[in-house]
Amino acid sequence: MSFREELQKRTAEIEEILRGYLPAETGFQKTVLEAMNYSVTAGGKRLRPMLMQETYRMFGGEGKVIEPFMAAIEMIHTYSLVHDDLPAMDNDEYRRGRKTTHAVYGEAFGILAGDALLNFAFETAAGALCENFNEQTAKAVKILAEKAGIYGMIGGQVVDVESEGQAIGQDKLDFIYRLKTSALIESSMMIGAVLAKAGEEELEKIRQTAEDVGLAFQIQDDILDVTSTLEVLGKPIHSDDKNQKTTYVTLKGLDQAKQDVAEISRRALDTLESLKCKNPFLEELITMLITREK
Ligand code: IPE
Ligand code: IPE
Ligand code: MG
Ligand code: MG
Ligand code: MG
Repeated sequence: MSFREELQKRTAEIEEILRGYLPAETGFQKTVLEAMNYSVTAGGKRLRPMLMQETYRMFGGEGKVIEPFMAAIEMIHTYSLVHDDLPAMDNDEYRRGRKTTHAVYGEAFGILAGDALLNFAFETAAGALCENFNEQTAKAVKILAEKAGIYGMIGGQVVDVESEGQAIGQDKLDFIYRLKTSALIESSMMIGAVLAKAGEEELEKIRQTAEDVGLAFQIQDDILDVTSTLEVLGKPIHSDDKNQKTTYVTLKGLDQAKQDVAEISRRALDTLESLKCKNPFLEELITMLITREK
C-alpha cells in the first residue's frame, strides 16, 4: 500500500472513532448539538488525532484507551476553529469546505457550539480517566488542559488578535505560533507518548518534535493563505491580509518561508530520529506536511 492509501485508510479509521464520541442530536438543546456535529463532521485532515495515535503506536501502545483522547483533541481543535472564524476574531465564512458554524447557525450558536465542544472534550477525557484510573490517564488529562489553555492555544490566540494591525517581530510571532498552533500538536503527541508509558526524556523529545511540526505547520498555513484557493483549501484565502496580520510570509517573504518549513520539519525529524523506537508512517506523515497543499 502506498503512503497516500495508508493515509486514507488511517484517516477513515479516525473518522469512525470520532463518530462514536459525538453527542446524539436530541433534547431541547438539539440546536447546539447539531452545530457541534456540523463543525466536527465537516471533515478536516484529522492531523492531531493521527499524530496522537501514531506516537502511541511508536512507543508500543496498544488498546483503546487512546481513542477518547483522540476524540477529545479533535473536539478542542474544532472548537478553536469555530471560535477563530467568529466575526469578532478572523471573521471567515468558510471552513472545511462548508459555511462556517456561525454563518449557518448564527453567532450565538457559534460561541455556544465552541464552548460545548471544549466542555464535551473534557467530559470525554474525564470519562476515560474514570474507566482507566492511573498515572498515565491523569497525566494525559493535565496535558490536554494545559496545552489548550492560557499557556497554550488560547494564550496564542490572545496575542494573535492583540497584534492585528501591528508590525511585530520574529520573537513575538514565534511566541504566537508556538502557542496558537504548536501547543495542540504538542498535546497530541505527548498524550500518545504518555499513554504508551514513554519516559520523561522521551516525552521531552516528543514535545520538541511536536513544537517544530506545529511551527512548520503554521508557516505553511500562512503560505497557503496567499498561494492557494478557497476550493482547494476549504477556507478563504487572504484572510490574514484582510485582518492585517503580521505572518511569517509578510515578515520573511514567500521563498524564505518555504525554506523554513522544510528546515524546521527536518529538525523535527532529526529529533524524532534520536529516539530508540521508530514509526516510519509518522516520519512520512511529517515529511508529507512540508509539501501539503491543504
Ligand atoms: C487549521 O488547522 C488551523 C491551524 C492551526 C493552521 P488544520 O489545517 O489542521 O485544519 P483542519 O482540521 O484540517 O480543518
Ligand atoms: C489559527 O490560526 C490557529 C488556531 C488556534 C485556530 P489561523 O487563524 O491562521 O487558522 P486558519 O487559517 O483560520 O485555519
Ligand atoms: Mg486566527
Ligand atoms: Mg483564522
Ligand atoms: Mg491561517
